[in-house]
Amino acid sequence: MRTLDWEDGALVTIDQCALPHREDILRLRTVDEVVEAIKRLAIRGAPALGVAGAFGVAIAARTHDADGRVDEAAVRAEAERLASARPTAVNLRWGVDQALAALSDGPDAVLAAALRVMDEDDRMNHQATVNAADVIVGLCPDRPLRLLTHCNAGALATAGLRGTALGAVFELAERKLVEFVIVDETRPLLQGARLTSWELGKAGIPHRLCVDSAAASLMGRGLVDCVVVGADRITANGDVANKIGTYGLAVSAAYHGIPIVVVAPESTVDESMGDGKLIEVEERDADEVRRVLGMPVAPEATEAFNPAFDVTPAELITAVVTEARVMRPQGAVAGRAR
Ligand code: MRU
Repeated sequence: MRTLDWEDGALVTIDQCALPHREDILRLRTVDEVVEAIKRLAIRGAPALGVAGAFGVAIAARTHDADGRVDEAAVRAEAERLASARPTAVNLRWGVDQALAALSDGPDAVLAAALRVMDEDDRMNHQATVNAADVIVGLCPDRPLRLLTHCNAGALATAGLRGTALGAVFELAERKLVEFVIVDETRPLLQGARLTSWELGKAGIPHRLCVDSAAASLMGRGLVDCVVVGADRITANGDVANKIGTYGLAVSAAYHGIPIVVVAPESTVDESMGDGKLIEVEERDADEVRRVLGMPVAPEATEAFNPAFDVTPAELITAVVTEARVMRPQGAVAGRAR
């Protein structure tokens, strides 16, 4: 099954909060349900958010259609609620805007636009993963490859067929070039442990889970040839917003002379934003830090920082790979032999 689909007037998806222990299917029929699923991360990952946003607008257009007359103001208000459900991934607003552009042609046209966003997502990500695999092969002289990834940039983070960074790992595995993948658990919500390990396990790709703070040490021990991650927003100068912890990985990778490759569709590139300082980084509930999977691990009154993302400066990134191009910031790490 794909991560997101349209069936009988509903957005159908797997509840990512329940994975890996339960595979609960959600059928979302209202904008409220889509917004709620996005906010609690039942639907997550930048490309998936774009597709969900587009289908959310399709739901709004059907809801506010009375005898062929769509209440456009009401749909636009719902679209704004969808687009602002999470602020950092530019794909969400992009997907909403793609669907909204068809609004004057009626609800069927809006749905057709959302279905196109979904199909495009598959096409863009597939090409980006092939391009990224080629780039990684060129950067890393040793075989087989030991790759490290953070968060989940797999099929679950997209419309569902391939993923971005994890899709590149799958592509390299299909080429029989992967020895193992190191999976950062990705606190606080454990997308690496819960989702990436689940996807790699199902694909039969050898992998080992580590706590986030082990990554630098594993690099120092020579166990990582390349870091491969996704992105939530890439600004015009090449700065990259991605899951909190990516910046630290990039600093460690640069220190150890290890390339870090970002894989994303062009819909993640925000040319309108000059640099990463302008990106709004989502701050989430402190309980996500004070608790692990709902279980308290700190005194209830402890104050916490909980930024969901960080911004890695362009010069720390070796290459940003999309379906259309490879961006290599000046002064980036080129890769090194084991
Ligand atoms: O908070 P999340 O789980 O939505 O964060 C997801 C990430 O940071 C991913 O790395 C990013 O969206 C790219 S997914 C292809």
